[in-house]
Amino acid sequence: MKNRLSRIFNPETGRTVMLAIDHGYFQGPTIGLERIDLNIVPIAPHADTLMLTRGILRSIVPPSYTKGIVLRASGGPSILKELSNEQIAVDVEDALRLNVAALAVQVFIGGEYETQSVHNMTRLVDMGMCYGMPILAVTAVGTKMKRSARYFRLACRICAELGAHYVKTYYIPKGFESVTASCPVPIVMAGGKKMDELDALTMAYKAVQEGAAGVDMGRNIFQADSPAAMIQAVSAVVHKNLVPDQAHEMYVDLKEQE
Ligand code: R5P
Repeated sequence: MKNRLSRIFNPETGRTVMLAIDHGYFQGPTIGLERIDLNIVPIAPHADTLMLTRGILRSIVPPSYTKGIVLRASGGPSILKELSNEQIAVDVEDALRLNVAALAVQVFIGGEYETQSVHNMTRLVDMGMCYGMPILAVTAVGTKMKRSARYFRLACRICAELGAHYVKTYYIPKGFESVTASCPVPIVMAGGKKMDELDALTMAYKAVQEGAAGVDMGRNIFQADSPAAMIQAVSAVVHKNLVPDQAHEMYVDLKEQE
C-alpha cells in the first residue's frame, strides 16, 4: 500500500500532480483528449501520476511508462443519463495485472444514487485492502447542488470515514481549509472547467496552501494553450510552493520557448 501511494504522492514533497484524462469514460472524446497519443503521452513525464481508464492504459500509454497510474474503477451512465447511477467497472485482479497505484471511484453524496455510489466505494475499499491497493474517492457534485464548504466537509468526511485512502474534491474560495482540516485522509484538488491559466494556477496555489496534498487536474492542463507549459507551472506550484504570478510567468516563458 505504501509503495503504491509513493507512486502517487512524491516522497520528497508528500504532494502530487495527477493529470486527469479519464473524461472519456462518460463523455467520450473530450476536447484536448481526441488524440491522447499525440497530446498527452509527451507531457505525461511532468505529472506524478496519470488518472485514466483501462482502455486508454491498454491501448495508448506505452508500457515503458513507470510512474503512478490511478485507474478509473466506476462507470456506467453516459452524459445522456443520470450520472450518479454508476457501478464498479473494473475487477481488482485486472487492476493488479495492469500494475496500477490506486483505483478511483465517484461518490455522489446527495445524488440520486448516493447509497449505490457509496457502496461501490466500500466494495472497492474491501477488495483493495486484500491486495494493498489504495482507493481514491472522487466527490461528484450534481449540477443543481451548492458547492459550499458545508457540502464538501460532509462529502469528504463520509468518504474517509467509510475507508477511502484519499479524496478528490473541488476548491471553494470560502472555507476550503475547514474541508481539509476535517478530513482525516489526504485531499487532492479537482480542476473543473477550463479557466484562465493564471486563475487556475491561483486556485491550485490556494488549495495546497490551505491543506490539499496536491491536485488532480484535467481540462485546465490539457485544454491550456500550452499543456506542456501548464503542467510544469502547476507542478512548480504544488511541489515548490511557487506563487501564482511567478508560476504564470514560468508558464508564459515555457510557452514562448515551444
Ligand atoms: C471527474 O470526476 C472525472 O474523474 C473527470 O473525468 C476528471 O477527473 C475531471 O478533471 P477536470 O475537471 O480537472 O477536467
